[in-house]
Amino acid sequence: MQSQKIVDASADRLAFHGVTSATGALLRDNKDYILSILPDALNSFYDHVERFPEAQAFFRDRRHMEHAKQKQIEHWRILLEGTFNGKPSAWTALPISPGRPSLRSYEYS
Ligand code: HEM
Repeated sequence: MQSQKIVDASADRLAFHGVTSATGALLRDNKDYILSILPDALNSFYDHVERFPEAQAFFRDRRHMEHAKQKQIEHWRILLEGTFNGKPSAWTALPISPGRPSLRSYEYS
């Protein structure tokens, strides 16, 4: 079983990143647009990854990338709610595990 760690979005953390209520409003206002372009943007990202063996090695095949893509869309859907209200979400509580390079950046302590 992989170890997991909860990352809490405290007021200090949000302040450090410069996240304010205006940030939330901006995210919400642009939610539909961002979600509409996200699948194509992620397809381009995974096309790019496939051209670099060291990056591609994190994925078994295109199906595995598709799984990660769907997870990222879910992640963005929650971010774009722009609430940052401390409830568990893709922003406030991400599963951290060593095999997931993209999530290491969320581990601060
Ligand atoms: C801004 C850049 C990135 C973001 C925001 C991001 C975000 C995410 C998210 C939200 C997940 C799903 C976690 C879950 O709930 O299971 C994920 C999974 C994953 N990511 Fe990233 N990622 C990024 C870049 C990358 C890069 C550059 C790589 C490697 C080249 C990578 C490799 C992976 C892998 C291998 C998984 C697990 C896939 C699976 O089996 O579901 N990510 N990423």
